[in-house]
Order: sequence, then C-alpha cells, then structure tokens
Amino acid sequence: MTTTPEILVICASTRPGSLNRRLAAAAANRLRAGGAVARLLDLDDYPVPLYRGGVEATEGVAEGARRFAADLARHDGLVLASPEYNHSMPGALKNLLDWVSRIKPWPTAGVHTVLMSASTGALGGARGLEALRITLASNGMRIHESDYALPAADQVLTERGDLTDSGESDRLDAVLKTFLAATGASDGRR
Ligand SMILES: Cc1cc2nc3c(=O)[nH]c(=O)nc-3n(C[C@H](O)[C@H](O)[C@H](O)COP(=O)(O)O)c2cc1C
Repeated sequence: MTTTPEILVICASTRPGSLNRRLAAAAANRLRAGGAVARLLDLDDYPVPLYRGGVEATEGVAEGARRFAADLARHDGLVLASPEYNHSMPGALKNLLDWVSRIKPWPTAGVHTVLMSASTGALGGARGLEALRITLASNGMRIHESDYALPAADQVLTERGDLTDSGESDRLDAVLKTFLAATGASDGRR
C-alpha cells in the first residue's frame, strides 16, 4: 500500500468546454485536497486507431492502449468521467477499452474505479454509466458501488471545477471519500 494514493483521473470527452472535463477537474481538486495525488488526462493522451482485428494482427496493440495500461499499473485507482452518448458511452472510449482488453493479463483487472458523468439532462448521464459499468466489469475492474451523475451540469459547474450547488458538492465529496478509502484498504497495485 502506498502512503499517498495516486489516482488517475480521465475525462472521456475532448470537446472544448466539456462539462465532463469540468467534473473531472472537480474530482481531481477534491482528491488533492484529501491528500491524494491526482493526474488529470483525457482520451487525447491515449490516441488509438479504430480497432480492427487486421490492424492488430499486422501492427500489434496500439501504442495509446499500451500507455493507458502502463498508467493504470502505476496508479492506485481510476476516476473516469464520461459523457452519455445515446444511453451508452462514447464510441471513442469503447474503442480505447476494446484495444486495452487485447493486452493479457488484462491491465484493467482489479483496478479500483469510480464512474462519473455530467450532462445538461435530468439524469446526468446515469444510463451511460450503467453501460460503462458492464463493459469495465467484464474486464475485471473493481467498480466502486456508488457512481456520481450530475444533472444540469451547465448550471452548477464552473470551468475551474467548482460546484455551486452545495448538495451536489457534498454528494461528490461523499463518493470520493469512500472511493479513496477503498483504494487505501486494498493491497495497492504497484
Ligand atoms: C452523439 C451524442 C449523443 C448524446 N446522447 C445523450 C444521451 O443519451 N443522454 C444525455 O443525457 N445526453 C446526451 N448527449 C448530450 C451530452 O451529454 C452533452 O453534450 C454533454 O455535455 C457531453 O459531454 P461533454 O460536455 O463532457 O463533452 C449526447 C451528445 C452527443 C454528442
């Protein structure tokens, strides 16, 4: 177990002005305030081509997927903030996860992960997280019991990652607190 938990925080949207990026920043800020190291990255840090078996057969596993695997191995947990696209996860995220699943043993196996989503909609992207949970669990991730889905995110989340709604702020703190405790309670991954 490491003394200072090191958490990878990934935003699955690269859109300029992304609400999920703001939420990821909010999570990273709070993790740091709680004594953890938090590294905030997004899908552009792990570029991969569209998965096709023929490409894998001739070129091997894409470099971006290997980099993601290495980052998972050197952190104690993952915060994944993902938009909901059509009640599921963005194709770009699924594509990266498909690539990573081709590495054996699975780099995702046993990784403590908490799922988050921000949306302008009333459910905050909660249905997308359900789909994401199924995919990640199939590759052995340890998904934290509580997700965090933020509705009307454009009204309560500033660009710096401040949550202006005190109820939502408390709810995010509570999810991250139990998540950090869960990562600390394990044997650690490094
Ligand atoms: C292709 C696409 C599909 C979407 N599907 C949903 C959806 O099913 N549910 C929802 O609440 N919002 C949906 N949205 C809206 C996104 O949640 C919203 O644009 C959000 O701000 C995207 O995340 P971002 O701000 O981090 O880029 C969709 C957006 C796109 C581009």
